[in-house]
Amino acid sequence: MTENGSPNPKRAAVDEAAVVQEHREEALEQAGPGAEVGGPEDYLLLARDLVAGYVPGVNILNGCTLTLSEGEVVAIIGPNGAGKSTLIKTVFGLIPVREGGLTLRGADIAGLPAHGLVERGVGYVPQTQNVFPSLTIEENLQMGAFLRPRTFSARFAAVAELFPLLADRRRAKAGSLSGGERQMVAMGRALMMEPSVLLLDEPTAGLSPIYQEEVFQRVKEVNETGVSVVMVEQNARRCLQICDRGYVLDQGRNAYTGSGADLLNDPNVIELYLGTLAKG
Ligand SMILES: Nc1ncnc2c1ncn2[C@@H]1O[C@H](COP(=O)(O)OP(=O)(O)O)[C@@H](O)[C@H]1O
Ligand SMILES: [Mg+2]
Repeated sequence: MTENGSPNPKRAAVDEAAVVQEHREEALEQAGPGAEVGGPEDYLLLARDLVAGYVPGVNILNGCTLTLSEGEVVAIIGPNGAGKSTLIKTVFGLIPVREGGLTLRGADIAGLPAHGLVERGVGYVPQTQNVFPSLTIEENLQMGAFLRPRTFSARFAAVAELFPLLADRRRAKAGSLSGGERQMVAMGRALMMEPSVLLLDEPTAGLSPIYQEEVFQRVKEVNETGVSVVMVEQNARRCLQICDRGYVLDQGRNAYTGSGADLLNDPNVIELYLGTLAKG
């Protein structure tokens, strides 16, 4: 039975989805900025009230705030098209900041190109096409270290300690690997520059449950080596279990912010973003 008592199940699902949408709009209206206290010096990474978009005059991010402190794993979840990838791309300098502030260890990084961020210790793994399929694993990792070719052997050994597959199959073409293995290559490549911040965009998308779990475990291990992580995730529940804090984005704005556990237990977050009707 739905709230308006519609007897037709298909109809009822549509009605319920509309109710979820309406409640989301209300929640967004009430939501403030993404719980940020303090200034740029207080955070490893601070994105404050970001406005950004692809097409002139059309903003996709409408004032997004995100903070990352040393040692944290921070999750970004939210419906398709909420602007999660856009936020992470804006942080990485792939999309210009139209309004708002972006700082890394207190220093302004708004306007820096992506390679400038790589030099400052930020790694990024895109959502799709994140390996060179015609190159071997080793060559993919060499691409990751192209700014510092002389450190290759030492870094390769360090990265292979986290991802043994990379050494075991170093001469295999990345294109011959499974989706889960490719994610390891993509993360390994980003780690070649020894970043202090790693930005991951949906690392478990399209993977079998076993591989999803492996990716989550590897992310935790990478984090334990001292790398702070921001990850966008489609497997929101699992991600909120392993992260320190999470952001729910909706329509380019912060809808909910809190510890992973708080968000997982928040009835509004469950109803609006984690339930079966909350998809899409
Ligand atoms: N390259 C692009 N050019 C124009 N619009 C884009 C581009 N990429 C994404 N968008 C739009 O930006 C919005 C947010 O997309 P995205 O950040 O990819 O969402 P999410 O990652 O949360 O699913 C969507 O409406 C999408 O259509
Ligand atoms: Mg995305």
